[in-house]
Amino acid sequence: MEAAVKNHVPGIDAECGGACACATCHVYVDEAWRSIVGEPAPMEEDMLDYAFGVQPSSRLSCQIRITAEMDGLILKTPDRQG
Ligand code: FES
Repeated sequence: MEAAVKNHVPGIDAECGGACACATCHVYVDEAWRSIVGEPAPMEEDMLDYAFGVQPSSRLSCQIRITAEMDGLILKTPDRQG
């Protein structure tokens, strides 16, 4: 989320500043990257209930902890956010 905001990625509003309290940083993780990115924690799953167009690959980008092995990570924003 921070990388998206700093680089003005459309559709990542991050209204709560990364507190897992708004769902305006919703992204879809490319299938090839899902196992590396991991699954949402229960609190994140609860907040995803407030996002539009949730899919199995949905994550809140503010809850993704970036690691070196995620170099090249592919995420997409939901159409409704873009
Ligand atoms: S920035 Fe608000 S939930 Fe991610």
